[in-house]
Amino acid sequence: MQKLMLQIPGWLSLLLLLLASCSSREEEIVLPEPAIIPLPVYMEVTNGSYTLTRHSAIRLQPATDDLLHIAGFLNEKISTATGFTLPVKKDGKIELILNENETLGEEGYTLSVTRLGVQITANQPAGLFYGVQSLLQLLPPEIKSTEKQITIKDWKIPAVEIIDKPQFAWRGLMLDVSRHWFTKEEVKRYIDQLAEYKMNVFHWHLTDDQGWRMEIKSLPELTAKGAWRAPRVGQWWQREPWQPGEATTYGGYYTHEDIKEVLAYAAERYVRVIPEIDVPGHSIAALFAYPQLACLKAPASVNVGEKFYTEVENSLCIGKAFTLEFMDKVLTEVAALFPDEYVHIGGDECYKGFWQKCPDCQRLMKKEGLKDVDELQSWFIHRMEDLLKEKGKKLIGWDEIHEGGLFPDVTVMSWRGMEGGIKAAEAGHHVIMTPASHCYLDLYQGEPSVEPDTYSMARLTDSYHFNPVPEDVPEEMILGGQGNLWTESVPTFRHAEYMTWPRGWALAEVLWSGPVRNDWKGFIPRVEHHFERADQAQVNYARSMYNAIITPYLLPDDELIIELSTEIPGLDIYYTFDNTDPDRYTSLYREPLRVLKNATWLRVVTYRGEEPVGKVITLTIGELEKRAQSDRRPVIGNLTW
Ligand code: ACM
Ligand code: ZN
Repeated sequence: MQKLMLQIPGWLSLLLLLLASCSSREEEIVLPEPAIIPLPVYMEVTNGSYTLTRHSAIRLQPATDDLLHIAGFLNEKISTATGFTLPVKKDGKIELILNENETLGEEGYTLSVTRLGVQITANQPAGLFYGVQSLLQLLPPEIKSTEKQITIKDWKIPAVEIIDKPQFAWRGLMLDVSRHWFTKEEVKRYIDQLAEYKMNVFHWHLTDDQGWRMEIKSLPELTAKGAWRAPRVGQWWQREPWQPGEATTYGGYYTHEDIKEVLAYAAERYVRVIPEIDVPGHSIAALFAYPQLACLKAPASVNVGEKFYTEVENSLCIGKAFTLEFMDKVLTEVAALFPDEYVHIGGDECYKGFWQKCPDCQRLMKKEGLKDVDELQSWFIHRMEDLLKEKGKKLIGWDEIHEGGLFPDVTVMSWRGMEGGIKAAEAGHHVIMTPASHCYLDLYQGEPSVEPDTYSMARLTDSYHFNPVPEDVPEEMILGGQGNLWTESVPTFRHAEYMTWPRGWALAEVLWSGPVRNDWKGFIPRVEHHFERADQAQVNYARSMYNAIITPYLLPDDELIIELSTEIPGLDIYYTFDNTDPDRYTSLYREPLRVLKNATWLRVVTYRGEEPVGKVITLTIGELEKRAQSDRRPVIGNLTW
């Protein structure tokens, strides 16, 4: 070949090269097995496939604006990779059909792929949109590529019959844009990603101690001052506070125009946007912008991630008339901009110590006959209910708002476990379950020593085994569930993605497919397929499920024992105590380990067959002893010397 190339003229070799590269680009790509997340309610893989080519076309029935938008969305998603868009034609073989099939509800759909074409039917446009999302997941991962154009002549879609609809109406993700600032483009990207997995609620945590992020035209200082803080990195709660005279250059906020743009983008993806204005606690940024909101002394700056709780005021003063005027102005603009029926007013973790010392708060309590500061918080929440009702909105709050009684149409978001939600549901309130143990996406998702710093643990398996409906609670009271990404330790959008996926996929599956259908073993290969899709789309995600789980404990005589396990099946664990890197030629873990005499470190790694898949974890014996203190067990089973 080399010889031949030397003998032929330059132009011909160039042509040959070009032809060779074209033929490799034209190879057929077909998925072996559909790997749809969330798993459809009913799916049958049939024979053959439909070939999507540049000559394919879409048929809409009826050709309304909604359906045209969905066709546009499909084209937007496939065009980068395929290099073509599909026209809308009367005889198109990719059919999107609205057909009053009420059994499919608001969001259900059917998807039929045969050799002859693709047909998606639904009762409502949202269902067609979800049918399109399933169709996109049937295409090869390359379809998700965001930048490179890959010209593969034939895009094969495996033949399937799907009938699908969600278990829960509320399938949400929350992004905290206060602790760290995320641009409107990043917010849109997040919304696009959650919609791909058929989630339909974006909860936008817009205000907190570390930044006020929504323009309020009638209160301009909120963003002129409250959206900006001194730049810092490093561990949250350990940071140096703002220094007098220091420039506050970190932050940002969304103008009304930005918010409208995000809302339009979300609406095209059938995603509801729930704004959260977190009051009366979590309000340093507001108190700094408008010191009249403080009980005794307003904070000197927006918080940068330094310790302050109980020392610096961060709750609105309830006793000052200005506070209700302030909230009226804020909620007037929020209600006018956001179309959803709900506004989230926070209500969580409110420190009430300054209310006890504040003459204005004490005067109000006396006047209203409120016996303690808990009743003062409840009085405030009732005023928020009044304000929102006037503006045609319903109130959602974190589960603390239930303490002190609520109007019947208030909805409770349960985060301190399920108990708050259970009590609220029993009292007749709608509930969204988002217990930290399963739904907090800011927590560690695997062995902490190889994860970015955070606190506590919620593994992929915890998210996957989430059941939003507790026993004995009427199912109709539980609207659904939600993953929450608090961003104290999430400084970049790339890291927001890392924390969200794949746990967000697990939550999407529980909330769409239903917890009773969960199939952890079957979920993992689908997750791995979606890792590939995410790689193509340059979306970040965590591979923490591959890392070993290290569980040290103490025997009654204080001897340290180390149990190793894996979150997913089919992995082998190798370890060393001799300060060398473990690999598949070092000791294979079979049973709980005794620590070798004088060992200083344990090192562990996981393999799948011959491939290392997990990170190397290195822990000192001292650290293992510290972790073991809370776990003492009797001797059982075999122990390895
Ligand atoms: C919360 O995590 N404070 C709702
Ligand atoms: Zn006060």
